[in-house]
Amino acid sequence: MSKHAWAGRFSESPVEALDAINKSIGFDLRLWREDIAGSRAHARMLFAIGILSDAEHTQLSAGFDAVEAELAEGSFVVDPVDEDVHMAVERRLTELVGDPGRKLHTGRSRNDQVATDVRLFVVGACDDLRQRAAVVIRRIAELAEQHAGAPLPAYTHLQRGMPTTLGHHMLAWAEMLLRDLDRFADTRRRANISPLGSGACVGSSIPIDREQTASALGFDGITANSLDGVSDRDFVLDFLYAASVLMTHMSRIGEELVIWSSAEFSFVRLGDAVTTGSSMMPNKKNPDGAELLRGKAGRVFGDLMGLLATLKGLPLTYNKDMQEDKEPLFDAYDTSRLALDMCAAMLADASFNVERMRAACTGHVNATDLAEALVRRGLPLRTAHEQSGRLVALAVARDVEIEELPLDEVQEIAPLADKQLLAELSLDSIVANKQVLGGTSPERVRAAAGSMIARLNAALPET
Ligand code: ARG
Repeated sequence: MSKHAWAGRFSESPVEALDAINKSIGFDLRLWREDIAGSRAHARMLFAIGILSDAEHTQLSAGFDAVEAELAEGSFVVDPVDEDVHMAVERRLTELVGDPGRKLHTGRSRNDQVATDVRLFVVGACDDLRQRAAVVIRRIAELAEQHAGAPLPAYTHLQRGMPTTLGHHMLAWAEMLLRDLDRFADTRRRANISPLGSGACVGSSIPIDREQTASALGFDGITANSLDGVSDRDFVLDFLYAASVLMTHMSRIGEELVIWSSAEFSFVRLGDAVTTGSSMMPNKKNPDGAELLRGKAGRVFGDLMGLLATLKGLPLTYNKDMQEDKEPLFDAYDTSRLALDMCAAMLADASFNVERMRAACTGHVNATDLAEALVRRGLPLRTAHEQSGRLVALAVARDVEIEELPLDEVQEIAPLADKQLLAELSLDSIVANKQVLGGTSPERVRAAAGSMIARLNAALPET
């Protein structure tokens, strides 16, 4: 059996419990791509500064190719002494190429190595989630354009408030997701600097070239303080926060799809491919996918809270506690990815019942429009609100809509009302009247669907 790389000063091997609690290979082998990329850049730099000869560098490169191939095809064998991905890769590389492998770790520590790997992972995760969110936003913009003029009650307190359109409602979802895209871009920006060269904590006496490794790895710059370089995990917290907000949005969209697909609402019919059945009730068609968009948020909040608790109170610099950053990071990424894909599939296979939505725009949802019409005829808002309220009470008592009340009775309460005013209260005209910027009118919604795509394209990196 091979020995631990650090075995030199030890006379006993670790007890089983220490081995078990200390090892991260069970979950961090997932970072092998980032780890090998980092090591390749480090080796190229060691060659450039004369630590590795040309021949040694060539041997190491071939070794990396071989280790990479084993990992990619799943034939890589983890050794009992492999504590983590970093040691596993170096151990296997040295088995394959011999002595040059023993020079690779020159001027480097696992502390700056892991910080580098995790930063590279976060950058890739941000890019991936932004692309997946873009798919959902595009689908929403398409649906919004299609349903720009389809009336739907806008709810406050889950009570019908005033009519909006389905397109306007959906573009509100798109706004949430566009902010998520921006949050992941911001997270990426802060993550994309290289800590490599910080060493264990204070840098190195070897004249390593940090700028070279940083640019080879696609980083925008280097960290300025080696103590901070190895102990900063703010960028993981940033990612977990961005993922938590994204999942909050997923949960709100999921909840609306759950409510809307109930028989009571019947605003949407979800396709068979995105719903499930019941093992007992043959009639059931359950919106499990939408429920899990709602339900998966909790675990991502847990990931964020867990890592905040782990990092709180840690002294500088690196502490092994920080190894606990990976599982929440991976979980939050996998969950967010899955949720975005589920949301896209749900919206691709949903048919909206626009007649049913239109029919739900009743129950005096034009009372505010009546008050505003009176204001346009010169009445102070508070007086208009009062008169409209009294007309609602009368209409409720008669079980009719406001515009169905006889004009003379309306005029007793609201003397400025006339036939024209009552005609202005029809559903289509009150929707069309919301011309204010950011408002509900079909014209505005159509324009907003177009500008949503333009804003999305501007927010995405050129690929
Ligand atoms: N597996 C460790 C982690 O994920 C790598 C760094 C270990 N450093 C050390 N000095 N033991 O944090």
